Amino acid sequence: MKSFASDNYSGIHPEILKAIQNANNDHQISYGDDKYTESANKLFKQLFGDETEVLYAFNGTGANVISLKCCTLPFQSVICSQHAHILVDECGAPTHAIGCTLLPVHTENGKLTPELVKPFLNRIGNVHNTQPKVISISQSTELGTVYSLDELKTLCDFAHAHNMYVHLDGARISNAVAALGVSMKEATVDCGIDIMSFGGTKNGLMIGEAVLVFNDELKANAPYFQKQSAQLFSKNRFIAAQFEALLTNDLWLQMAKKSNEMARLLADKIKELPKVKITQKVDANALFIIIPEHAIEPLRKLYPFYEWDAQTHEQRWMCSFDTTPEEIDEFVLKLKELI
Ligand SMILES: Cc1ncc(COP(=O)(O)O)c(C=O)c1O
Repeated sequence: MKSFASDNYSGIHPEILKAIQNANNDHQISYGDDKYTESANKLFKQLFGDETEVLYAFNGTGANVISLKCCTLPFQSVICSQHAHILVDECGAPTHAIGCTLLPVHTENGKLTPELVKPFLNRIGNVHNTQPKVISISQSTELGTVYSLDELKTLCDFAHAHNMYVHLDGARISNAVAALGVSMKEATVDCGIDIMSFGGTKNGLMIGEAVLVFNDELKANAPYFQKQSAQLFSKNRFIAAQFEALLTNDLWLQMAKKSNEMARLLADKIKELPKVKITQKVDANALFIIIPEHAIEPLRKLYPFYEWDAQTHEQRWMCSFDTTPEEIDEFVLKLKELI
């Protein structure tokens, strides 16, 4: 099967698979005290700065739970977009595991701004209300859009001025950084992000995400929250070895550039078609589109994809590191025939 459903439908990049195999030859100290974890940590520090604290998690939900746990007490709240993965796609894990409340903000393009967040701060100090402590953003967003550096800095400055942290859900941070054309550090730490996840599974890993802690206040408790959240892997070398390969020779960037390029190609090929409307800016590797209703199911049979909005029949098409121009041609040809 080939698909445009999600970047986690794709398999494992051959270099990553090789790295798992190569790590499978001797005994190593468990729980992250192994040479692969040491090496992956070094590479993360090269990318994000020496002061970065690195932890690993099995999945994105786990990474978000650890991050938000580091930032909140049970009476505090997390401001996020109405589309945020932490709000709609994690079965309530953050609220269940942490006790914090999530406050959804309506956004048109998936991005939060100080203006959108401000109305949620009017009850700070009121004992009857949860107390906003975190602004959580996704980069790239769940709508495939990408915050600019200015937008990130403005939001981080605003959060810090109001005694709040900024959490970045970076399940697709590589795609965002590839789109921005800046360094990973410039797009995160230098903007003022306090804590983030770094996606692996959506960019060619078999399993694994990282949590990167930049703010010193959040570092001491992080390993305990990781363990308590059941995210500390005894054989962590097999997650770390994958990140070692991903962060070597900018493999992460090459793969993210490729999936972004495929989304751009797909957008260019369909944007002039009659009765086709691209509903969001195609900044990274996702397209949001409305196509004639009769075309949806036959097209979905050829290449599975998800319906984003059941009312408007807006669809989401996601490209992966292994999407090819030939697959896009076949998909577009079928769409044209159906229209
Ligand atoms: C924005 C975002 N965050 C986090 C995740 C991680 O989810 P999972 O727990 O399935 O790895 C996803 C996966 O779809 C995502 O899209």
